[in-house]
Amino acid sequence: MDNGEDWDELGENKRQRKRRRQHRQKGPKRTSERSKDESFARTEEDNFLSNLEAKSGAFNWMKEDRYKRMFRDIETKIQGALGVGTYDWVDRRVFDQVFDRLTLMSLYKLMKAGTIDTLDFPIARGKEAHVFRATTIDGRTIAVKIFHTSNAVFKNLVQYIEGDPRFGGLRRRHRDLVDIWVRKEHRNLSRLARWGLNVPRPLGIHKNVLVMEYIGSETVSSPKLREVKVEDPERVFDILLEFLAISWQKANLVHGDFSPYNILWHDDKPVVIDVGQAVVQSHPKAQEFLVRDVTRLVEWATKNGVEVTLAEAMFEVLNMELGHVEQLQYEEE
Ligand SMILES: Nc1ncnc2c1ncn2[C@@H]1O[C@H](COP(=O)(O)OP(=O)(O)O)[C@@H](O)[C@H]1O
Ligand SMILES: [Mg+2]
Repeated sequence: MDNGEDWDELGENKRQRKRRRQHRQKGPKRTSERSKDESFARTEEDNFLSNLEAKSGAFNWMKEDRYKRMFRDIETKIQGALGVGTYDWVDRRVFDQVFDRLTLMSLYKLMKAGTIDTLDFPIARGKEAHVFRATTIDGRTIAVKIFHTSNAVFKNLVQYIEGDPRFGGLRRRHRDLVDIWVRKEHRNLSRLARWGLNVPRPLGIHKNVLVMEYIGSETVSSPKLREVKVEDPERVFDILLEFLAISWQKANLVHGDFSPYNILWHDDKPVVIDVGQAVVQSHPKAQEFLVRDVTRLVEWATKNGVEVTLAEAMFEVLNMELGHVEQLQYEEE
């Protein structure tokens, strides 16, 4: 399967050359570099996608025998994600963007391993990742977060660097970076779960695909804390303050993006998600991130009628008595 890499790289290079050529024809940059770059990236992305569609270039690889079999195997299993039935917001463009060859291969591996059986429906789409509800081979619901392996901004930047012999292999390195990011999210989830914190349990990982416990009902994923009105904000504040204290004092982690958008409200309790950016205490920005996280929590709390100051909350996070908190014997599945 690995020979496929070279085949793909070849295709990429051809597209790179074409894009460089198109760029040259557009002439040198003038005013408003930034907006020009942005619109350039957008046009490039559009051209790129429509070219792929026109030539079906993106999926030529599927016609190769070794991939044909693989894709046939998983095609029916990812129907839900393709916009069949109620969930028709995933159009062909999104499909191309999310399910590139490497991603399909990762899904294939996770399906062969039994971690995923079917992708059922999309939950959310973001700039960096799409999240899907899925089902395991033994019928349990799970969440699958698929990180994009490329993006328009990166494509825009890469053309100025690739081709410069000092920076060869950048595209590969970008993919490596994405994979490292996913591994980081997986490890952070494990560590937080080990300290008994309420996060989705990590269930599996392959390259840019992260499998975790699904937080939601049969039909919809749980709402964000931002979207609900909780009955007892004081209690929720205490739980979240303790979350930050245990993360900092025990798990040695700072979430870094601790906002009501990254906290789901499930079974009358907050569940913290999106931990890819969490860093350890020794990170040069750890303290800055911690203050920001606590500030966000205090903002949420005061908006919901809890009387608390940043200084008090900060003091609690740093000094809360946590002698009773022990690491669980958490076995990753
Ligand atoms: N384990 C999960 N169970 C249910 N829904 C989830 C899960 N993880 C993420 N989501 C949904 O997907 C959205 C995006 O996930 P998130 O991890 O925050 O990614 P992003 O980096 O795009 O913000 C969340 O706001 C939530 O609605
Ligand atoms: Mg998020």
